[in-house]
Amino acid sequence: MGESAPAPIPPTAPGVEGGVVADNKEELAPGFDGDTRREPGATAGPGQVALELSGVIKHFPLRRRTAVALDGVDLTVEKGEFVSLLGPSGCGKSTVLRLLAGLEKPTAGRVRMHGRPPAALVKEHRLGIAFQHHALLPWASIAENIALPFRAAGRPVDRARIAELLRLTGLEDFAEARPRQLSGGMCQRAAIARALVLNPEVLLLDEPFSSLDAVTRRRMNIELARIWSEQRITTLLVTHDVEEAVLLADRVLILSGRPGRVRHVEQIGLRRPRSSRLTREPEFHETVDRLTALLDSDIAHARADEGSTARSARRWLRGRG
Ligand SMILES: Nc1ncnc2c1ncn2[C@@H]1O[C@H](COP(=O)(O)OP(=O)(O)O)[C@@H](O)[C@H]1O
Ligand SMILES: [Mg+2]
Repeated sequence: MGESAPAPIPPTAPGVEGGVVADNKEELAPGFDGDTRREPGATAGPGQVALELSGVIKHFPLRRRTAVALDGVDLTVEKGEFVSLLGPSGCGKSTVLRLLAGLEKPTAGRVRMHGRPPAALVKEHRLGIAFQHHALLPWASIAENIALPFRAAGRPVDRARIAELLRLTGLEDFAEARPRQLSGGMCQRAAIARALVLNPEVLLLDEPFSSLDAVTRRRMNIELARIWSEQRITTLLVTHDVEEAVLLADRVLILSGRPGRVRHVEQIGLRRPRSSRLTREPEFHETVDRLTALLDSDIAHARADEGSTARSARRWLRGRG
């Protein structure tokens, strides 16, 4: 595979600083697979693969340079698996989700959902997405907000399904309320209900709880763990909260700083169902501490790189002065 493919741009290539390279016209072959630095456990085991990124490179052309968001990412999520994606800000976590949601195309490499391009599942409304901001329609009731995907898919609204989700997310008394009458946590729950309403096969969550206070967030985590254990939907959760990642996932992947690539994979063997009791156990804390240390060292490296970039810029400016 890929013998004739041109080599990818290594993160240390001349001109690459902080994930930004000088404009590069090099063609990157789709399906490139020549990288030896991938993290072996980032791809799933013998189970059925639901989501797959293979050798994915994503560049964003800017005015005079190119931002490298992802630099050779390989990851898979098995059918029915819950994977958390952790990483410092700007490392490409949202880009991974946007590629899987069919909102972006990779510069090189392969993105597949159930073996097909993501657009196929999106078109068939088999994908549920909840992003950082709940994006509920302010003038519509909670029940109507949850019903939106039926309307978008041109299907009759299934009121029984909406009632079931209102119950599942603890919002049954708020069906007729407007979003502004609900707390942030309740709106996030409604957004998750909306993502689930068409019984998606895949759920993509991009920091859905990041605007919540710590106590509400923990409660939401436990609720999501419960909902997930009932439905076993293939889920990829992007978060920068290590406890949240560990509490929910079967596997945690850590993306390195800019540009992103999978740096570490952790299989989470903690027993299910996951409850708040688990968060007080030493095994949970040991895992969280270890992953936090890994993330911290990555952020420190990224800062050191930024520092050396700034220092060389200052030297260059002094040279000109
Ligand atoms: N549409 C875009 N145009 C230009 N650069 C982008 C765009 N989207 C993301 N990026 C850049 O790609 C990198 C990764 O972004 P993102 O995936 O949002 O990171 P994360 O979600 O991990 O914080 C960042 O450096 C960001 O500035
Ligand atoms: Mg993001």
